[in-house]
Amino acid sequence: MKHLYHPANQATEPIYLNRASLRQALRHKRRRLTPYQQQQASHRICQKISQQPWFINAASLAVYMATDGEIDPIKIAIMAHSRGKKVYLPVLHPVHKKHLLFIRFTPQTPLEKNRFGILEPRLKGYGLKRTHHCATQRLDLILMPLVGFDVQGGRLGMGGGFYDRTLALKPAEFNRPKLVGLAHECQKVEHLPLEAWDIPLAGIITPKNVYLA
Ligand SMILES: Nc1ncnc2c1ncn2[C@@H]1O[C@H](COP(=O)(O)OP(=O)(O)O)[C@@H](O)[C@H]1O
Ligand SMILES: [Mg+2]
Repeated sequence: MKHLYHPANQATEPIYLNRASLRQALRHKRRRLTPYQQQQASHRICQKISQQPWFINAASLAVYMATDGEIDPIKIAIMAHSRGKKVYLPVLHPVHKKHLLFIRFTPQTPLEKNRFGILEPRLKGYGLKRTHHCATQRLDLILMPLVGFDVQGGRLGMGGGFYDRTLALKPAEFNRPKLVGLAHECQKVEHLPLEAWDIPLAGIITPKNVYLA
């Protein structure tokens, strides 16, 4: 099925794209940002997020290690750590396939690349100490990467469905974790083609705007 893709903020004709083509088009746009634009974007988002009450009040939050031109949240992680918050990073779940597990991160945590080439804390076997990971529903906030978003809270990821699966375990009535996407403005589309399993975001932060949150 083809869906309407209307590049936001651009005076171009809407194009019809399926999810795979839309991902490709958006990833291509994102990769064209210069290192300076990337640096400015993560700096502005870090400033914006530090003023949000839901960030100030979060005792625990998950970030991610950026890849492929995603907003880099490392400064947010370090700032959150220095404010006494517990910071976590996702790793590929060692038992539940295509799920994520959130592991404690500090600036001293050794990281290594997973099979997608994304840095993650090293997992030593399955004998995880309880203090080193956090059950998803106990996190106050999850900052999520995305390929595309719409201002209704729709999120298009890389296509693995990892966050969707991990968050589907969360009872619907739970009001945490709060799910916030970090994005460049060029990742905004008018209406994303969403599927039943897509977990909506409670907010999206770009260098220019705070949407919904
Ligand atoms: N809760 C879930 N349970 C089982 N499979 C899921 C779940 N959420 C997503 N998936 C599967 O993961 C795949 C990728 O999901 P998709 O939403 O397209 O990726 P992304 O969220 O990374 O953009 C889909 O084929 C979908 O069927
Ligand atoms: Mg999805």
